[in-house]
Amino acid sequence: MSGVNDIRSAFLDFFHRNDHEIVASGPLVPRNDPTLMFTAAGMVPFKNVFTGLETRPYSRAATAQKCVRAGGKHNDLDNVGYTARHHTFFEMLGNFSFGDYFKERAIELAWTLVTKEFGIDPRRLLVTVFHTDDEAAGHWKKIAGLPDERILRIASDDNFWAMGDTGPCGPCSEIFFDHGEHLAGGPPGSPDEDGDRFVEIWNLVFMQYEQVTPDERVELPRPSIDTGMGLERIAAVLQGVHDNYDTDLFRALILASEEATGVRAEGGNRASHRVIADHLRAASFLIADGVLPSNEGRGYVLRRIMRRAMRHAQLLGAAEPLMWRLVPALVREMGHAYPELQRAEPLIGETLKLEETRFRKTLARGLGLLSEATETMGEGDRLDGETAFRLYDTYGFPLDLTQDALRQRGIAVDVEGFNAAMERQKAEARANWAGSGEAATEAVWFAIRDRAGSTEFLGYETEKAEGVVRALVRDGAEVDAAAAGETVAVVVNQTPFYAEAGGQMGDTGTIAGEGFRLEVTDTTRKGEGVHVHHARVVEGTVRAGDAVTLAVDHARRGKLRANHSATHLVHEALREVLGGHVAQKGSLVAPERLRFDFSHPKPIDAAELARIEALANAIVLQNGPVETRLMAVDEAIAEGAMALFGEKYGDEVRVVSMGTAIEGDKAGETYSLELCGGTHVRRTGDIGLIRLVAEGAVAAGVRRVEALTGDAARHHLDEQERRLKAIAAALKVSPADAPARVEALVEERRKAERELAEARKSLALGGAGGGAETGGAQETVAGVGFLGRTVAGVQPKDLKPLADAGKTSVGSGVVVFVGASEEGKASVVVGVTDDLTDRFSAVDLVRAAAAALGGKGGGGRPDMAQAGGPDAGRAEAAIAAVRQAMAEAAAPAG
Ligand code: ALA
Repeated sequence: MSGVNDIRSAFLDFFHRNDHEIVASGPLVPRNDPTLMFTAAGMVPFKNVFTGLETRPYSRAATAQKCVRAGGKHNDLDNVGYTARHHTFFEMLGNFSFGDYFKERAIELAWTLVTKEFGIDPRRLLVTVFHTDDEAAGHWKKIAGLPDERILRIASDDNFWAMGDTGPCGPCSEIFFDHGEHLAGGPPGSPDEDGDRFVEIWNLVFMQYEQVTPDERVELPRPSIDTGMGLERIAAVLQGVHDNYDTDLFRALILASEEATGVRAEGGNRASHRVIADHLRAASFLIADGVLPSNEGRGYVLRRIMRRAMRHAQLLGAAEPLMWRLVPALVREMGHAYPELQRAEPLIGETLKLEETRFRKTLARGLGLLSEATETMGEGDRLDGETAFRLYDTYGFPLDLTQDALRQRGIAVDVEGFNAAMERQKAEARANWAGSGEAATEAVWFAIRDRAGSTEFLGYETEKAEGVVRALVRDGAEVDAAAAGETVAVVVNQTPFYAEAGGQMGDTGTIAGEGFRLEVTDTTRKGEGVHVHHARVVEGTVRAGDAVTLAVDHARRGKLRANHSATHLVHEALREVLGGHVAQKGSLVAPERLRFDFSHPKPIDAAELARIEALANAIVLQNGPVETRLMAVDEAIAEGAMALFGEKYGDEVRVVSMGTAIEGDKAGETYSLELCGGTHVRRTGDIGLIRLVAEGAVAAGVRRVEALTGDAARHHLDEQERRLKAIAAALKVSPADAPARVEALVEERRKAERELAEARKSLALGGAGGGAETGGAQETVAGVGFLGRTVAGVQPKDLKPLADAGKTSVGSGVVVFVGASEEGKASVVVGVTDDLTDRFSAVDLVRAAAAALGGKGGGGRPDMAQAGGPDAGRAEAAIAAVRQAMAEAAAPAG
């Protein structure tokens, strides 16, 4: 007898030998169909291949597909735990022909597998066909040699399979296994067909049509095959049990649940263990595929499944959260076939633990209220909707949990009353936001949010998905359609587009549908979780209600991921090098670069920068996985997750961790742990390289670093190298010798400048040569020595030293130097030797000079003053003006 894992492999192996491509299971959240809540059949990932929209390099395939039937069109949630074969999560084994083989080959393959490979006794099998399908009946007779009485013709919908209200469909033929006379039940089509004796094990669908709208059906391009065999059922048959929960896989999960609770799966407790085992699978696989508990849409179905199991854990008397402790058993059983389960193990564990911890806080009180309200009730009674709503609203009891809790006592719930109470609450919330200030400008988004719910974000898992247009907004008002050339804001039910938040820029990409295409230039978030795609229609007309394919610009998103993960690493490296006072003050994650602002009182020196860069890059090179978990805020912060002060976080937060600390106190522990809703690389190595390119101040006590990653970092380094090579070429040395050469040149130049200044000075003071344009030997004015010179090529700042030298050279007297700048402006300095400052003021004299130069003012001390003027052409006049002023100052008063 084989285990479930062997049976799965045997199935895939058989079809591989029969020329089928073995394809990995698609995700539970369908990306190719906006009308489905979850993947509920093996054919879902191939929907567009059947309809001809998509082509693949193969025309035959086989899969083991993860399926969930809860909350959507197919919903088995209510029955799970109480029957032998209902599951919320199950695996569907299937083989597919896309216009390749049809009925005959499909029947032949199925019969061979079941009777030869699996060795099931043909006498225990019977089949059904759609009542008009003589062809299929003929093949069964010929291939299987079944007598007519074991080929049943069924006229009902049971033998016509459809994916949903729309999608591929066709008549089908089912194989049934007879579990034996000891069980009650009749063959398909008989009044007691729902008994346990005859169990459908395989459905072969002859895909021929596509239901385009609920009233329109068209032929598929080519007749195809879709089959589905529930792995749990075939395992039961092959393991000689009739109950799916008695197969090896479920026994292992139930054993784990028994051990963790210390309660045997017997009597009334049997159902609880089954619920726990089944819901553990559904919840874990959904979380692994990116669904997290919430109060809407898929997240709410997940929450309902989780809470239903958690109530059963409580029924078993579990004193502590239970579900998360069973995750290792599940990963042991199924992680090999589904590696995503291993990858997401921490996320699954944390999410289950958090949900159960929180739910347990209200569970007991809710159950108390429930038993009080139903104290006097008995079989056939009905709990009022108000109480059911209070349980939902205050105690977090999903409606089906309340129903489940009352099921055994035969008490129903007034569902209409529950819905009415829910509606009333929504209306109140509406009235509230309608009156708030924010709502005035944002009313349109709140209205959309209220009507259509928040947007489900699929972008952690995928960059491409299908959605339905829920609203189109132009100039602040909803419109029905937008045509080519128009810009429009688009709201869909689900999207892979990240809406700008936490510094990470919104995604860009395309939205396309039947006959139209839009370019998305930005995505933002409005009115609590509504993703708004800002787009331009480039082709055709988009209408509210249209089905669309949304595709994120992959290359750009890749850069955003790398830059966001790099931001976390730089943040941690900054703290490591500069200290724990480093706190994030803002950040920008753009495709081309990242910017990070943080508190730090002084500039970061080159050695610190180099160390920060080295630490961050060491984590890049570790190439460890980037892991995401869902946690309660306080718990996350207690674990050391970095959160933004003043930021608004919900009760539950995503925590992103990466890297292992190499040194310091944290050596061996997680390197970076941050609360973050952004998108990240899968492994740190995907960042490629981190290069810090700028450091500076943005405000008092706030510094900013900028960095590049991946290709951008490499291009930056290329450019640096190109410049270095150009410098080396100009210096005619190798790049290695360039720095020393530049240093030598700078030193030489400094020396040359010094020598030049000396030479000019001595020229100005009367030495030989062309430096002094006018004047010659020392003269006498008003009875004292006088030196007046015009000098070129001397900086204004060098005039004073010149005047000092001049004073020394005259010994006792007055000196004037007028310097001319290259633009023809003048600056002038006047020096008076100390023995004469009681007779002449340098300030007065320089003012006279400035006036002659066309300038005003001038200032300094009695022994040295400086001024400027616009016209160096008047230098001689300025010197003359000083002579004049000296003469006047010397003349006797009166
Ligand atoms: N798609 C078919 C089913 O789900 C095989 O039963």
